[in-house]
Amino acid sequence: MPKIKKSPLAVIILAAGKSTRMKSELPKVLHPLCGRPMLGYVLDLVSSLKPSRAVAVLGYKQELVRKFIPAGVKIAIQKKLVGTADAVAAGLAKLKGFKGTVLILYGDNPLLKKETLKKLLDYHCENSVDVTLLTAQTEKPAGYGRIIRDQYFSICGITEEKDADEVQKEIKEINTGIMAFKKDKLEANLKLIRPNNRKKEYYLTDIIGIFSKKKYLVDGVKVKDPAQAQGINTRSELAKANSLVQKTINEKFMQEGVTLVDPATAFINFGTKIGKDTVIYPFTVIERDVKIGKRCFVGPFAHLREGTSLKDDVTAGNFIEMVRSRIGSKTFVKHFSYLGDSSVGSSVNIGAGTVTANFDGKNKHNTVIENNVNIGSDTVIVAPARIGKSAVTGAGTVVTKNIPVRTVVVGVPARILRKRGENG
Ligand code: UD1
Ligand code: MG
Repeated sequence: MPKIKKSPLAVIILAAGKSTRMKSELPKVLHPLCGRPMLGYVLDLVSSLKPSRAVAVLGYKQELVRKFIPAGVKIAIQKKLVGTADAVAAGLAKLKGFKGTVLILYGDNPLLKKETLKKLLDYHCENSVDVTLLTAQTEKPAGYGRIIRDQYFSICGITEEKDADEVQKEIKEINTGIMAFKKDKLEANLKLIRPNNRKKEYYLTDIIGIFSKKKYLVDGVKVKDPAQAQGINTRSELAKANSLVQKTINEKFMQEGVTLVDPATAFINFGTKIGKDTVIYPFTVIERDVKIGKRCFVGPFAHLREGTSLKDDVTAGNFIEMVRSRIGSKTFVKHFSYLGDSSVGSSVNIGAGTVTANFDGKNKHNTVIENNVNIGSDTVIVAPARIGKSAVTGAGTVVTKNIPVRTVVVGVPARILRKRGENG
């Protein structure tokens, strides 16, 4: 294999746009896929390419978006959102002195794979192309820019859906938005773009026609799997992309030895960790960064929210909600319970219908349940409270203060019934 000529790489991520078609107050690039803003997936791609420079172009509600931009990525502000060409110009202004390849990525295109971009960049450098487009062949081209080819099958332009005639609308090769440019040619020709289109915007895509007329080398690489190229502009596209990301997450867990009884109803967010031989039953929602040990049983109908961790051999059964809670090994929470801001030890049994009342209307409070405790069905623990080691609460108890170790309590509010011996 001949060695591919590499040139230094800079990436510009376009993320200034509003959420017009999403009909949302939240900037589009912050809409989550499996619990993580779509922009996060694009930023992962950028770091996997190890570019020498990276710039994110922000605009709409930039104060919200910039919190997600890592330190190595510069921020450029697009003052008026007048189109993708103008956004690229704002990005280029932060690349003074850079010479080499500029890769344009769109913040609303989060499903792309690193290998696809590598292939695009290798082709671009190897053949010394002036602009290489990532295109996709799709049966549903509606909404995308169409790739226009001349009689020699060379790319000579892109026409946006809104400006396309009936014949062009039939074209099934679309612009994914991803392009690799020689920086000097991009910079010199960007200024020539005019807003002569229905939306009166400066379209980056018009640069392809300009390059072609100047006989610059324009080429395309087709993405194998068009699903990767999916842009997200509407809530319906967001839902489709979400289920694709969910499939990838679930597939990975199954490969790692986790049983998902029904992967279609296992809603597991990005960043979750699950140990081997754990079984996730249907209709379970597991939020971002939750940690689950080995050999646990979760669900059906469980909701494990942020800040929750289960050690090994835990059961978090039917109709359970947990938030900001740590559950020790071999502990059972089997039936309809709510645990919030709780730290539960090992070998604890939490009876059906147990509730930690963690919120007093103003503040949240913690509950601590030590090892080997037995919580009777329908116990309410009004936090803050600590239940000592090996203590027992009777059915229907309302705990309002700390319970000493090895103590049996009953009633409303809880009163001490007896002390337990070492063996119960
Ligand atoms: C764009 C392409 C279209 C392509 C599709 C792929 C243009 C003109 N059209 O259309 O050919 O098929 O993506 O998904 O480029 N943005 C800014 N500033 C702006 C406008 C947009 O930063 O002034 C950003 C947006 O945040 C977004 C990206 O650029 O991340 C693309 O903009 P969007 O409005 O979604 O373009 P599409 O209509 O999807
Ligand atoms: Mg888009």
